[in-house]
Amino acid sequence: MSLSLLLLLLLLGSAWASLFLGSVLTYYPLHTNEDGSTTMVLRYKLTYDLCSESDVWVCLDDNCGFLSSYALKTVDQNSSAAWCQREGIQTRRFRSNAPFMIEFFGGPWGSNRNGVSYMAALTSVELRKRSDTGRVNSSPQTNVLPELRVPSNCQRDIDLLTFDPDGDEVRCRYGTRAALECVHCTPAPVLSLSSVSTHRGRKQVPRVLLRWSTSCTLSFSSTLPSDEGTYAVQLVMEDVARQPVTVTRDDGAETVLQADAPIGQSAVDFTFIVDPAVESCTEGLYLPRFLPPTPANRARLSAAVDRPLEISIKAEANISTISELLFSGPYNTIKTSSGAGQYTLRWTPSEGDGENQPFCFAVQAVFNSVQFQSELRCVVFNNYYPTDYNPQFNNNYPTNYNQQFNNNYPTNYNQQFNNNYPTNYNPQFNNYYPTNYNQQFNNNYPNYQTNYHVPPCIIPRWQHKRLPVSLSCN
Ligand SMILES: *[C@@H]1O[C@H](CO)[C@@H](O)[C@H](O)[C@H]1NC(C)=O
Ligand SMILES: *[C@@H]1O[C@H](CO)[C@@H](O)[C@H](O)[C@H]1NC(C)=O
Repeated sequence: MSLSLLLLLLLLGSAWASLFLGSVLTYYPLHTNEDGSTTMVLRYKLTYDLCSESDVWVCLDDNCGFLSSYALKTVDQNSSAAWCQREGIQTRRFRSNAPFMIEFFGGPWGSNRNGVSYMAALTSVELRKRSDTGRVNSSPQTNVLPELRVPSNCQRDIDLLTFDPDGDEVRCRYGTRAALECVHCTPAPVLSLSSVSTHRGRKQVPRVLLRWSTSCTLSFSSTLPSDEGTYAVQLVMEDVARQPVTVTRDDGAETVLQADAPIGQSAVDFTFIVDPAVESCTEGLYLPRFLPPTPANRARLSAAVDRPLEISIKAEANISTISELLFSGPYNTIKTSSGAGQYTLRWTPSEGDGENQPFCFAVQAVFNSVQFQSELRCVVFNNYYPTDYNPQFNNNYPTNYNQQFNNNYPTNYNQQFNNNYPTNYNPQFNNYYPTNYNQQFNNNYPNYQTNYHVPPCIIPRWQHKRLPVSLSCN
């Protein structure tokens, strides 16, 4: 079978045995290698009704890099396994630093009232070095649960987590078909989107504060029973420089990106369910209510690389019965329950996790087999390297390896973690740690050879005008 026919079949849906429910696509630079090239991590969450679906990516430019590692691992499932979220981590290396766009094809969306029958999402990656940060851009970072629900008579604001490691402003908007950001792009009519910059024009604000200066809120207002049902939400998050930024190619060519021009973009897709009206919208009765010590929404927590950390989540519901914690985060997060409404999420950051990892969670409860979901909360783990982190290997790191973190090390870092490198650890691989490198996996590195994931084809942009069926791969 020719590649084009194969892809056509994929796009027509015959290859998707399951239904798409949501995804979040982001990227960040990991290392600058000794030869000046950059390693990027494309990190995404994918949710289907089954755990078996593979991911289909199409490069829309000449070069989307060389995939040096790839993994797709289960994050979380709801307790009846009606949906399964997995996390994909692609580490890509590049011979040139030309910007590129790469598109994810997700197959058929689960049934929804706004007519989105096919899923596609785009991310555009700026690989040229920025004059203001001295490094390659990160996309806006975000996360969300694959399925959010609210009774039709209750009001709810979904305050999406948005932050940008480069200090850019983050804006949200609906995707457009012309830009290939979605195939069926009708927004959910029951939600209204507002994207506000609270620090607009205040250019002297320190970068660390600027990371929080934007908001992206979807508001749901009490509505009629006739609006009950399931909706597909497809958003684009863009990072926008606050002042002009010069980006430089390998060959020295410079381009000025004007303030207000998008630099990169992330995609956020989820399923929104409007449930039948409930007797009371007061949190803590039917709808679960968070209690201390649950972290506040948008809390930032510090996370030392290679050391486990935990967040405790507590919730109550006096009329309904709390049934589960749903979360979206790195695949190696461990969820445990220590009694009704009490949960712990435990996670150990590793070198491939970059500077930050966002987590989102909500608690669900059941009453007369009707489900109720708490508000969504999201927190960010800021990863840092302990001071004496692997001192015996320090000389092997690329010289500019995470330089901005070198001054942040805590004094109480435990030496016992330094002895865990695998015996077959090879210094020649120092330039790119596997993204799923983790202490507990030290004795068996994944076999990259067999994990390589080759995008199905490379298609010139002009062939994409009539998504999805006009795509071909000759
Ligand atoms: C899991 O999700 C499905 C689909 O929304 C739902 O029917 C099922 O009741 C959920 N299970 C639990 C325990 O929440
Ligand atoms: C639920 O019950 C607890 C214990 O009786 C009480 O403190 C709390 O206020 C109740 N919650 C609501 C929302 O009424």
